[in-house]
Amino acid sequence: MRIVLLGAPGSGKGTQAALLRRALSLPHISTGVLLREAVSAGTAHGRQAEALMNRGELVPDDLILELLAERLAAADTRCGFILDGYPRNLAQAEALDVMLAGRGTPVEHALQIDVTDQQIIERLTHRATTEGRSDDDPDVVRKRLEVYAAQTAPVVDYYSHQHKLQRIDGSGEIGDIHRRIIAALGAGTQC
Ligand code: AP5
Ligand code: MG
Repeated sequence: MRIVLLGAPGSGKGTQAALLRRALSLPHISTGVLLREAVSAGTAHGRQAEALMNRGELVPDDLILELLAERLAAADTRCGFILDGYPRNLAQAEALDVMLAGRGTPVEHALQIDVTDQQIIERLTHRATTEGRSDDDPDVVRKRLEVYAAQTAPVVDYYSHQHKLQRIDGSGEIGDIHRRIIAALGAGTQC
C-alpha cells in the first residue's frame, strides 16, 4: 500500500506514521528525518539544507527528490511505503507521480491530518522544551506554518482531484487518531 501523509507541521504525521509502520509492516519514509540525518552526517545535501531548515523554509526540490528517489529504490519499499513530509508543494507532487508512474506503482491513499493552529503551537512549544529540535523555536514554527499555508496546503487539492484524498481528524488521543486512519485505509493491506 502506498500512502502519503499530509498535514501541517506538528499535525502528527511522524507520530502516526510510526504507528502505521508497525500496523502495516511498511517502511516509514520521512523527508524531514532523511534531511536531519544528512545534516548530522555533514553530507553535501545536509550542508545545503541546514540553514534553510533552521529558518523554516523548504529545501530545493531537486535536492529532496534525489534523497527520496534513493530511498524509494530500496528493497523494503516493494510492498509500499508511508511517506511523511513529502510532497511539500505541487512540483513535488507531480515529480512523485512521474517517478511512481515509471514503476507502475502510483500513490493509493493521501491522508490529510487536520489540526488547529492552536494545537500545533501547544505541541511544538512542548516539544521545544523536551527534544530541542532546532526548528521548534516559536519564530521558526510561525515561518513553517506560513510556508505550509502558501506552498503545501494546495497539495491537498491535488490529491482531492485524483480522488485519493481522505481527511482525518487529528485531534485527541494518539491511539484514537491511529484507529481513524486504519478505518480510512480499509482492507487490502497485503503486499
Ligand atoms: P519535517 O521534519 O517534515 O517537519 P514538519 O512537517 O514541519 O513537522 P513535524 O515533523 O514537527 O510534525 P509532524 O506532523 O511530523 O508531527 P509529530 O508527529 O512530530 O520537516 C522539517 C523541515 O525539513 C522543513 O521545515 C523543511 O525545511 C525540510 N523539509 C522536509 N521535507 C521537505 C520537503 N519534502 N521539501 C522541502 N523541504 C523539506 O508531532 C509533533 C509533536 O506533537 C510531537 O512532540 C508529538 O509527540 C506530539 N503529538 C503528536 N500527536 C499528538 C496528539 N494526538 N496529542 C498530543 N501531542 C501529540
Ligand atoms: Mg515529522
